[in-house]
Amino acid sequence: MGKVALFAVVFYDVKRYSGGGSTGQRKGRKMKRFALKGHICYSTHPDRLEIRENSYLLCEEGECRGVVKELPQGWKEAEVKDYGTCLIIPGLTDLHMHAPQYGFCGMGMDMELLQWLEHQVFPEEAKYADLEYAEKGYRIFAENLKKGATTRACIFSSLHVPATELLMEKLEETGLKVMVGKVNMDRNSPDILREESAEASEAATRQWLKDIEGKFKRVQPILTPRFIPSCTDELMERLSHLQQETGLPVQSHLSENLGEIAWVKELCPWSSCYGDAYDHFRMFGTEQCKTIMAHCVYSDDQEMELMKKRGVWIAHCPLSNENLASGIAPVREFLNRGLNVGLGSDVSGGNTDSIFRVMADAVQASKMYWRLIDQTKKPLTLEEVFYMATKGGGSFFGNVGSFEEGYELDAVVLDDRALKTPMDLTVRQRLERICYLSDDRQIAAKYVAGEEIRLV
Ligand code: GUN
Ligand code: FE
Repeated sequence: MGKVALFAVVFYDVKRYSGGGSTGQRKGRKMKRFALKGHICYSTHPDRLEIRENSYLLCEEGECRGVVKELPQGWKEAEVKDYGTCLIIPGLTDLHMHAPQYGFCGMGMDMELLQWLEHQVFPEEAKYADLEYAEKGYRIFAENLKKGATTRACIFSSLHVPATELLMEKLEETGLKVMVGKVNMDRNSPDILREESAEASEAATRQWLKDIEGKFKRVQPILTPRFIPSCTDELMERLSHLQQETGLPVQSHLSENLGEIAWVKELCPWSSCYGDAYDHFRMFGTEQCKTIMAHCVYSDDQEMELMKKRGVWIAHCPLSNENLASGIAPVREFLNRGLNVGLGSDVSGGNTDSIFRVMADAVQASKMYWRLIDQTKKPLTLEEVFYMATKGGGSFFGNVGSFEEGYELDAVVLDDRALKTPMDLTVRQRLERICYLSDDRQIAAKYVAGEEIRLV
């Protein structure tokens, strides 16, 4: 018997409570309600982890209606899924990953960014011109993402339109809510992975958006200029017009590597900083242009101020920054300044798609930053990285990543009984251990916007 099936028999106690009280009504129809029972952990602020033991997480029409010790009147008829001593946490958000790089996850790690792009990344991404290859690669990617603790993700595809559409189809089937971007790149890459012109890149992007219009319920498009060195000024200008026309969000890379930053200065001598090279084309935050920038390892005072002013989300990717010897991002400073920060695996600069592992790594990297770079920047805590992995990154999707009322109900149920210890652990200790051990096999159930995902 499969693990989940066995679990259902011996452990879950799914009851239909039949006590009195009215069921809720909205616009004359019954609202879909259920409750999850267990030890519930969630963030409200970067330094605040709420732990509610033996409590109910109320869900109505896909939204959270609070965490309570006793079922309130009106909820007695709701289905209760009793997960016993399991932990229930918000689904994790991966703010930055590359689906066509998943095939070489854990390989090619002995290079720096620009050499790695040329020798490892571009030749592999070029293979996604072949739909048969894309079918294999994206099936594996989607299946694995579904099984992990991630419920939301912002994902780069390749520049190929048919493969990007295939990736969106595969992800739609998982039940996860994600954003996917067809990559734009019209310079500084080999012929096999470069669009013919800015005009051709724009046309392909418009074709992609037309093809997918109204097709997906859970998967959304996001504009994806790869990074400044890959996009001519003309392409950036064209994408900027498309962005203003459509209001679509944007994702890209920023200040990841010193060689890359020097190159951007050469390519855009008019820019006052790397961030300004995006801002110049009006694709750097703002209410009308929600933007994620991955890495920001070398963002200085001026760049951080601009990100703050524009409301850019930072995808902090510590594993990738270590593997590519990029550096350590000043995350404590991001938090001090009140910037939007989430976590990214950067598969496959990062060598895993486990956001638990990225959480542990964010703490570890921050300790090295404090020890070796700046002793006024104290290391991150479990509370802070848990916040970034849930509410911090989730906020890019709206009210996502917490169990406060009105949040979309993304939840992950964690059964850590297989992680044996003779110690008697508190719930916080169990959560800390799950993050540091980063073992996704503990996932017993997963919900996205109130819908249960079938894990097998
Ligand atoms: N900068 C431009 N492209 C990439 C990429 O694929 N991965 C990373 N980490 N940085 C990039
Ligand atoms: Fe990346």
